[in-house]
Amino acid sequence: MSGTFIAANWKMYKNRAEAEAFFRAWRLLPAPRGREIAFFPPFTLLGVVKELLPSGQALGGQNLHEAAEGAFTGEVSAPMLSDAGCSYVLVGHSERRHVFGESDNRVAKKFSASMNGGLRPVLCVGEKLDEREAGRTLEVVLGQLASALGLLPPAQGFDVAYEPVWAIGTGKVAKASDASEVHLAIIEWLKKRGAGKEARVLYGGSVKPDNAAELLAADGVQGVLVGGASLEPTSFHKIATAGM
Ligand code: 13P
Repeated sequence: MSGTFIAANWKMYKNRAEAEAFFRAWRLLPAPRGREIAFFPPFTLLGVVKELLPSGQALGGQNLHEAAEGAFTGEVSAPMLSDAGCSYVLVGHSERRHVFGESDNRVAKKFSASMNGGLRPVLCVGEKLDEREAGRTLEVVLGQLASALGLLPPAQGFDVAYEPVWAIGTGKVAKASDASEVHLAIIEWLKKRGAGKEARVLYGGSVKPDNAAELLAADGVQGVLVGGASLEPTSFHKIATAGM
């Protein structure tokens, strides 16, 4: 995989008409060259977005269950996401970990299931405010990475998103130098283990049009995972083309 990766996590926002309006406007804007673009809409919109995506742009799920199929009401599996046209899936997003109580163990199972199911997981890691204030950022982030990737971390086929929990949806963005420190530690950790050789490490947490260029220029930042600012086409386009 190459090129800066710009990803839109729509979380639990938008209905069909809103998604159609987004892509009507998005398709009129010039496609960001040399950048990979992916959209992670809610499950109900995967089919709609698949139809409207400009060619070369990718689709992903926001979550998955670790089993391929079964009596798991309300859940969706890797083969189902793949069948719906997804090539990516978010695994261990902070809202899954901290609102829905997903454990490291569960995240590890989901990570394996997505790799085995032919999807490219974007493994999300990040520390809470108290953990940062206690100087435990790298311990938490690298611990989440080690736990999800297991004893034999895959050599390729996944990406990582560093999303400090205190920066998500709060308007508080990590300083580019703080993001860099964590990104470089993740890259070094992977390199030492021969893992994720072509993995991109994305930053997420209050990425906006006015801070995207600085974040994308920071050492070790190979893309961004955008929540709120990805819901509006012009704002997401400014981020997707920032620093070009
Ligand atoms: P915001 O960009 O709204 O802070 O969300 C970040 C995020 O959680 C992306 O996955």
